[in-house]
Amino acid sequence: QEDVDNKLNGKVNDIVATLAKGKGWRGPEVFLHKGFWLPQNAIKSLLMIHEYFHPKPTDIFLAAFMKCGTTWLRALMFATANRHQYKTSDHPLLRTGPHGVFPSLDAQIFLEYPVSKFDNLPSPRLFATHFAHDLLPTSMTSPSSTCKFVYVCRDPKDALISKWHFMSKIRSKELTPMSFNEAYELFCNGVSEYGPFWEHVLGYWKASQESPEKILFLKYEDMKKEPSVELKKLAKFMGMPFTTEEEEGGVVEEIVKLCSFENLSNFEVNKDGVQTFRAQVVVENRNFFRKGNVGDWENYLTEEMRDRIDSITETRLKGSGLAL
Ligand code: A3P
Repeated sequence: QEDVDNKLNGKVNDIVATLAKGKGWRGPEVFLHKGFWLPQNAIKSLLMIHEYFHPKPTDIFLAAFMKCGTTWLRALMFATANRHQYKTSDHPLLRTGPHGVFPSLDAQIFLEYPVSKFDNLPSPRLFATHFAHDLLPTSMTSPSSTCKFVYVCRDPKDALISKWHFMSKIRSKELTPMSFNEAYELFCNGVSEYGPFWEHVLGYWKASQESPEKILFLKYEDMKKEPSVELKKLAKFMGMPFTTEEEEGGVVEEIVKLCSFENLSNFEVNKDGVQTFRAQVVVENRNFFRKGNVGDWENYLTEEMRDRIDSITETRLKGSGLAL
């Protein structure tokens, strides 16, 4: 194990030495690896996924740029997949928090390798990842493999605000705080963990257009507007559509309510609990719940700032058929 780790660390160091460096939002630096800005540990995690992770044909991955709705989708996907096992009044979400119900592939791979305990997870296995589509192994992303992706995206202006708040909370204490203006500049320049935001979204968008049966592309704003409609889409995509009896019996609304911001954020576990991603990365669950609104950027961005992000979005997404 130690040998394997040393070898891997050596490999990561060799890779990192050749890469362009940028300022990190949580840690001191990020590196431009194959078009995406990643902290060193994320590069290690990516190598591990390539080397040690063996997807199963029934796996479902939840993918998103940071702060676009992973917490919400995790809860919805888990509650949907396991709706026959648990009552909403005594649900695992009450005890574990949304991040405990299924693993972050990016973080958990550190704890699992080289002998994976992922094999013991019930089928379909659910995993979350922040990695861009093109960084992941083709064993996961190739249209010929049957595992699926649920991607959730969000207005980049709201993603920026949410990410700045979150990263400021978990930012390494040895570093000086990052001002909002600095975060804004970095974000516009694409220098943001797992980003650039736009390339992240476009990778999954294009793949979802090519293989709609493999990638379901959701928007946070649509989910806020019509959660039941989006949840039904999600369940169908996961291969577990709600039956007419379930729909008539109010199961869809029950899951929507269970996973709502108001409900989840008031669970004790989400007020006081913590989520350990790796030994060095422990995040208080409460940090995953801030406002849960669409358009909070209006409280932070000047008109000029808004226009700049909107124009980047328009330019980058031009011709893709996607509007954000
Ligand atoms: P805000 O910071 O805008 O409030 P992620 O889960 O991907 O880390 O994204 C976090 C964002 O989703 C935060 O946005 C958070 O408040 C919001 N969020 C968390 N749980 C939610 C829920 N159940 N419903 C809607 N939004 C939720």
